[in-house]
Amino acid sequence: MDRKNKKPGVIRRFISYYRGHMKLFALDMFCALIISAVDVIYPIMARNALNDYVAPGAETLRPFLILIGAAILMHVVRAICSYIVTYWGHVLGVYIETDMRHDIFSHLQKLGFSFYDKSRTGKLMARCTTDLFDVVELAHHGPEDLFISTVTFVGSFIMMALINWRLALMLMATVPFMLAFVMYLRKQLNLTSRKVKESVAGINADIESAISGARVAKAFTNEEHEIEKFDRGNEKYITAKSMNYKAMGRFMCGMEFFTTILKVLVLGFAGILIIKQRGHMTSNDLFVFLLYITSFTSPIRKLAMFMEQYTAGMAGFRRFTEIMDTEPTIFDEPGAAELECVRGDIEFKGVSFSYDEGRRVLKNIDLSIPHGKTVALVGPSGGGKTTLCHLIPRFYDVSEGSITIDGHDIREVTLRSLRGNIGIVQQDVFLFAASIKENIRYGRLDATDEEIIAAAKAAEIHDDIIRMPDGYDTVVGERGITLSGGQKQRVSIARIFLKNPPILILDEATSALDSATEAKITSALERLSEGRTTLVIAHRLSTVRNADEIIVIDSSGIIERGDHRTLMEKGGAYKLLNDAQNLLYGGE
Ligand SMILES: Nc1ncnc2c1ncn2[C@@H]1O[C@H](COP(=O)(O)OP(=O)(O)OP(=O)(O)O)[C@@H](O)[C@H]1O
Ligand SMILES: [Mg+2]
Repeated sequence: MDRKNKKPGVIRRFISYYRGHMKLFALDMFCALIISAVDVIYPIMARNALNDYVAPGAETLRPFLILIGAAILMHVVRAICSYIVTYWGHVLGVYIETDMRHDIFSHLQKLGFSFYDKSRTGKLMARCTTDLFDVVELAHHGPEDLFISTVTFVGSFIMMALINWRLALMLMATVPFMLAFVMYLRKQLNLTSRKVKESVAGINADIESAISGARVAKAFTNEEHEIEKFDRGNEKYITAKSMNYKAMGRFMCGMEFFTTILKVLVLGFAGILIIKQRGHMTSNDLFVFLLYITSFTSPIRKLAMFMEQYTAGMAGFRRFTEIMDTEPTIFDEPGAAELECVRGDIEFKGVSFSYDEGRRVLKNIDLSIPHGKTVALVGPSGGGKTTLCHLIPRFYDVSEGSITIDGHDIREVTLRSLRGNIGIVQQDVFLFAASIKENIRYGRLDATDEEIIAAAKAAEIHDDIIRMPDGYDTVVGERGITLSGGQKQRVSIARIFLKNPPILILDEATSALDSATEAKITSALERLSEGRTTLVIAHRLSTVRNADEIIVIDSSGIIERGDHRTLMEKGGAYKLLNDAQNLLYGGE
């Protein structure tokens, strides 16, 4: 992978998002230029109109009216440009935002189990949503604000200096103070709005956890406790928001005050100049200066805003790049071959595995599951059964040893072809909040309705589905909550029938069932595993009695292997497990 070698700087990566939208960006900048030009030219035009055509002794109104007409026209153009900047400029922002969101979402799809083990859903969601808002504010307003401010500021200063350099310098002298003042107030505003954001994030997290844990809260009648917990967050929000308004109030009134005082200062200073140095300054000049004050102060305000946007936007973009730079730990090796479909002989050779450095979950596992045979994994909870199953489709890579399918090391074939040949019914079944039909179709996206129904019949879920209010179109709740445990399992089995892979992994597929449903599922699974290489885990040992081989594992590795009869005769760990279950479930 050459991805590691090419990591341009953050700013260059940021700029690269404009690449696909250069036309729109150029239009935005062009209109921004016109806006600044009008702001710079208009006051001087007004001054000339007053000086030349409204002076005492002017004979005709015509040229003055023409100039007024031109001024109106200029402002019409300015208004159109301002519309374009607001509309298309924001649309440009939205394009960039969606490009970034597409990239981060696609990248998240590439990252493996180990990444999701360590990440929190809420945080990842924020990376894809709120963080991007700050980035896009900068992407859209940043260049435009910087551009308009610089042009207007420099332009107004030059114009004012041309009219009266003394007064212009006096104004310039106030700029550092004003900048310091604005930056101080904006910083306050920024700090308080960050506090507001944090408290909103806290409230969101509280709501999310309370909603997903609502059933637990009710079971323990802890609703009051939840409300109290929530109210604490809500109160924090009141404090944060009022601090924010306080800062906003100071900023707004400070800015107004500053601009007005500046006008008064100009008035005073200009008055003195008019009185003391007749000829150097006229009242028309004064009028124009007053007009310029706004175009002089607003860039300062915008500049301060830009700095803040830059800090927040870049921080958001850095968080974005952090995820984009997280390399998938599991990927196709260069030159990986397609795993041709396969007889399905699986072989574990000296496989060890640990999730984190240090604690080994699987130790030195040697195991072979020949084509078409069924091997059952049993053992204590936490013994590593699910982990072992997750190594075959390469959800995680082995730490030592190797796994082969039909003699091919699974690290040397493409992930797509490997996973395409494996059907896995996971221990905790996940259904999407969509219709049952769509959930089954997840097994093979191009399946027809008939094939879906056939798969549902094979998984013995068809009868349950047609009894539901909307049949196959019944929408299951989030994570499939409106279905029973057994129904969810059968939907996930139907997916595998549809996928029709040569290798089958069943993790606890029959643990949540009553005996009638269990019988249904067992027969569905027997049908499913016919002719397929099958690795099955079940806590209810009765369901794996017919397996060709039973493997007992715990954290020290494989402790026993053989078929049911041999293991029972041996009288070891398997017999102990079996006897304990017979006591529990009253088996024979
Ligand atoms: N994603 C993970 N990250 C770190 N450790 C994990 C992870 N998943 C499981 N473990 C640890 O690995 C060990 C084996 O877990 P595993 O889920 O494979 O057990 P199991 O045999 O399937 O248990 P059960 O019968 O309860 O399903 C456990 O000690 C568990 O704490
Ligand atoms: Mg498990």
